[in-house]
Amino acid sequence: MWKEINIEDWKGNVFHKIGKQWMLISAEHEERVNAMTASWGGMGILWNKPVAFIFVRPQRFTKPLIDANDHFALTFYGEDQRDMLAYMGKASGRDEDKIAHANLTVIKDHAPYFDQANEALICRKLFAQELDPEGFQDAMVDQKNYPSKDYHFLYVGEIEKVLLHDK
Ligand SMILES: Cc1cc2nc3c(=O)[nH]c(=O)nc-3n(C[C@H](O)[C@H](O)[C@H](O)COP(=O)(O)O)c2cc1C
Repeated sequence: MWKEINIEDWKGNVFHKIGKQWMLISAEHEERVNAMTASWGGMGILWNKPVAFIFVRPQRFTKPLIDANDHFALTFYGEDQRDMLAYMGKASGRDEDKIAHANLTVIKDHAPYFDQANEALICRKLFAQELDPEGFQDAMVDQKNYPSKDYHFLYVGEIEKVLLHDK
């Protein structure tokens, strides 16, 4: 059963959750649900709201789905889902129905999330912008991460709901 909790009661280390556990970013447009693995991003307070920020390269199939909707979801999984996360970070929704292939069960909220997850954040988009290379203070970061100049789009989402899965 899923239950909503207060964000202040959400346990765990964000560096571990995002960087090590990884997460799925999911979104829907016109009944098409897709998700991609992400290990870059963060959480904090901005504009007096609890926010999550994610970085999505322009070529991701998930990107136009995020753009088309007011909300996206972030989900976190146990180690038993590592293979699924690796698959979702390699295959593209442009070529196949990843949700069906990974046997993910969609739960519809303002953004779709998955019953296989342990934790889900429903986020309302507040800000979206392509990273401007003029902004790099360390040119090496640009050179190392963007040899093809495919700069990430930054999305800042207000965390509207924190959902925990009591399995
Ligand atoms: C561990 C891991 C972390 C990733 N982190 C990101 C990320 O933060 N941003 C991003 O744009 N792509 C990231 N990717 C790549 C996308 O998940 C991958 O390109 C995926 O196939 C895109 O799927 P889509 O085309 O269906 O959206 C990551 C992949 C892996 C395996």
